[in-house]
Amino acid sequence: MDKYFVTTPIYYSNATPHIGHAYATTIADALARFHRLKGMEVFFLTGTADHGQKIERKAQEQGISPQELTDENVQKFKDLYSKLEITNDFFIRNSDQENHWPGAQALWNKLVEAGDIYKDSYEGLYCVGCETFKTEKDLDEDGLCSDHNTAPEKVVEENYFFRLSKYTGKVREVIETDTIDIYPKSRKNELLSFIDSGLEDISFSRPKEKVGWAIPVPDDPSHNMYVWCEELSNYITAIGYGRDEKSFKKWWPADVHIVGKDILRFHAIIWPAMLMSAGLPLPKAILSTGLIISGGKKMSKTLGNVISPFEMIERYGEEATRYLLLRHVHPFEDTDVTWERLDEWYTAGLVNGIGNLASRIMKLAEQYLDAPVVRPEPTSFVQEYSDAFNNFEFNHAADYVWKKIQELDERIAEEEPFKVVKEDAERGKEMITGLVEDLYIVGRLLKPFMTHTSDVIKKAVLENKKPENLFPRLS
Ligand code: MSP
Repeated sequence: MDKYFVTTPIYYSNATPHIGHAYATTIADALARFHRLKGMEVFFLTGTADHGQKIERKAQEQGISPQELTDENVQKFKDLYSKLEITNDFFIRNSDQENHWPGAQALWNKLVEAGDIYKDSYEGLYCVGCETFKTEKDLDEDGLCSDHNTAPEKVVEENYFFRLSKYTGKVREVIETDTIDIYPKSRKNELLSFIDSGLEDISFSRPKEKVGWAIPVPDDPSHNMYVWCEELSNYITAIGYGRDEKSFKKWWPADVHIVGKDILRFHAIIWPAMLMSAGLPLPKAILSTGLIISGGKKMSKTLGNVISPFEMIERYGEEATRYLLLRHVHPFEDTDVTWERLDEWYTAGLVNGIGNLASRIMKLAEQYLDAPVVRPEPTSFVQEYSDAFNNFEFNHAADYVWKKIQELDERIAEEEPFKVVKEDAERGKEMITGLVEDLYIVGRLLKPFMTHTSDVIKKAVLENKKPENLFPRLS
């Protein structure tokens, strides 16, 4: 059986999940569901990054341990996923000493064996917000991190380094030749010019007294692995690297890593170099998504424009939240999301769209058909819809379904089966049967987006009954 392995980033568990986390996990879920429906064996991985200075400091401020802080937040991620009916096969935490640490350390040893780890003294600028070292060109004119608006900390210490520079040519080649397919293509060119500006060796460890909440470097207890070096390895440790070789061989390489555009470089440059150093196969594709902003600005507590996925669920319901994310957030570009727009999208696509159509058609069916319309289950998906999924254009896959919904609405308006059936019962029934058949197809196409709605529509058809009110009007 063909296999499909899809991953999300492991999200920092220093806070509760935000809309960006909900988005990446929901598109990964839609991909997983789509491939399962095609009959493939799927492994869908998500999880959290619990280590690092940011989390350590926040826990300290709150007077609790980093373990307690991350446990609390991880529970919120899990609550969110259960509401959104996320079907991940595993949830990896990089603080998981049983499942993650052995593989992270085994990978480190492989890099050492390849001669790609060395110790050196380091003088640099560290942004705790990003959990990365910064170079001058990463900072704005005031010397601040442009993502966090804070001055990075000066760091002078001994670190282990990874010979990233050695892999410059090879990494360039895998990107250039689409050995790792970068989506969207425009970011492939950005990566190539970044590589051409020169890759430097990078720090892979921090002294234990600076970062205590992390994984120890094998054979050197005075150093801990630096977050990115061991966070990236979650993609292989979760499926068994370093503890279950058979499972690892079965699932690796990943078919796609889903990441935000801000962390594409880590995934498209550092991660492939690490894998090459360890002699492991490379992921097949990386999807780099745009960011969700609100009212033209980055979401922030200070601006008061944060839209939380929990609030979305409260206002629109779980299924509608999935719909809004999958159809209206652009997979590649930044998307401006405000409550006004969400309300409009909800009403147009759900209340007046699928909700209204399903109830109109099934009301006619219930009234005029003597028995349920039985239809053989289709075995494949139409090309346009499949292509959209294969190109990670979730919005287009949904557009395809909503085009069908609109066509059905128009057909009802033009053919007026509710009138015809009163004058010519046979012809009217034929028309209604045709509408029910097409509604059933719409229901099936909805499955990766809105599983419950899809089931309700199918059930309504099989029982020949008007369904419950699917999407209530907003008050
Ligand atoms: N821990 C690292 C990832 C390690 S993966 C080996 C990390 N975590 S994060 O929680 O800060 O970010 C996780 C993801 O959320 C990133 O892909 C990032 O792009 C995404 N988003 C953060 N803010 C976002 C929006 N406002 N909109 C969409 N996605 C956003 O980075």
